[in-house]
Amino acid sequence: MPPSDVLVRYGGNMPRYTSYPTAAQFDASVGAAEADAWLRAVPAGTPVSLYLHVPFCDMLCLFCGCNSSVVRDADLRAAYARLLIDELHRVAARLGAGRPVRHVQWGGGTPTTLPPESMRAVMETVHRLFAVEADAEIAIELDPRFLPDDYPPLLGALGFNRASLGVQDLDPAVQAASGRVQSLEQTEDCVRRVRAAGLRSVNVDLIYGLPYQTVDGAGDTALTVAEVLRPERLAVFGYAHVPWKQKRQALLPEAALPPPVERLAQRARIDEALRLSGYGAVGLDHYARPDDALCLAAAAGTLRRNFQGYTVDPAPVLVGVGASAISNFPQGMTQNVPANAFYARAMETMPDSLPAVRGVCRTGDDRLRGEVIERLMCDLQVDPAAIGARHGASTTWFDGAWPALRQAEKDGLVVLDGPVVRVTEKGRPFLRNIASVFDAHHVPAGVKRHAGAL
Ligand SMILES: C[S@@+](CC[C@H](N)C(=O)[O-])C[C@H]1O[C@@H](n2cnc3c(N)ncnc32)[C@H](O)[C@@H]1O
Repeated sequence: MPPSDVLVRYGGNMPRYTSYPTAAQFDASVGAAEADAWLRAVPAGTPVSLYLHVPFCDMLCLFCGCNSSVVRDADLRAAYARLLIDELHRVAARLGAGRPVRHVQWGGGTPTTLPPESMRAVMETVHRLFAVEADAEIAIELDPRFLPDDYPPLLGALGFNRASLGVQDLDPAVQAASGRVQSLEQTEDCVRRVRAAGLRSVNVDLIYGLPYQTVDGAGDTALTVAEVLRPERLAVFGYAHVPWKQKRQALLPEAALPPPVERLAQRARIDEALRLSGYGAVGLDHYARPDDALCLAAAAGTLRRNFQGYTVDPAPVLVGVGASAISNFPQGMTQNVPANAFYARAMETMPDSLPAVRGVCRTGDDRLRGEVIERLMCDLQVDPAAIGARHGASTTWFDGAWPALRQAEKDGLVVLDGPVVRVTEKGRPFLRNIASVFDAHHVPAGVKRHAGAL
């Protein structure tokens, strides 16, 4: 079947399934009290992972769907870092001293907008309050255009070992329309500096579906990035156009956005270029060198998916710190106050409380469906009956999914192999659509608004 026919059926709006239930199910019935109780309930000795969010950038990219704004005042950035330190203390007080930590992830925005002495102070607090393991993964997102000279050596000294850099596309016309002008030389220089500082792993983000992007241009970008920058990992995102949520995206030339069939072709060309350059495909949108932990975990069936995307982190609890940060517990998820000013106010006016204001409790059914969806998103195959049996569900628990699965098989996206659902390479770009078959909360396109699946 030609791609355009498949796209008619699978082009609808879809969550990214970085969690289940997804953030679309969060509401104010869950908040600080749950975050407090769930932190206190983490059994002693159980490792947790930390995510620290910094919602500042030096310049806004028009395509950006993240929670960030331009704050130039170094004092305000330093004041935000003090709030992170305060929140870390509140978290540690509830978890108990010396909690093991194997993954620390800084995201944004651009965390290197924190003044160097603030970054140092936050990391020293992390080390003081938690037992960060010797071989812990400590990762950070960078903007290659705005990385001060003294920052890479600082990151090396603070134990960072992984950096993630935004590139998106190298075509000057795409960069100009997207409000992100960044030369290959700037990015090369950034990669050289972070490697020289001892960070052993570099990830590069690419996007397809940006204004004026073409199939050839997207393929050339992927090939050049692979051959010149030689990152250990790449993330290849489809541009999520959500101008009703991110007003800045309304400034993009909408008429120049490639249609779904073109986006699918761009994605395919990037995929071809990266595989030819020796990368293995991981899940929906990641690539890694065959000996990278991400590829090894994908092959072993131990890959995980969390709010940051794909990870090898098995920790059952992820604690998000900072404005808008999300925490994940076995019992459910909580999200901090999204806007910086209100986050600061919550921290200052409620010194005994956590700044969580929304979230969701997981039911037993959510846990079962969440596991099935996570395995599909990570392994591209799942045995829903076997997982159901482990959760004590009846053998008919997913009977309602069969018509959609059979249609997906007719369309060549899955193979139904006895009890196992296997996603084909043709189905990989439609992984979110296939996962949505098991999502009890998903409402059809137009009712709840997500970005287009492709
Ligand atoms: C949280 S951003 C941080 C980027 C980093 N601060 C920088 O400037 O390079 C991480 C990545 O999200 C991706 N991203 C942001 N907005 C997006 C959107 N609307 N659709 C798809 N991907 C997006 C980009 O690839 C970006 O590099």
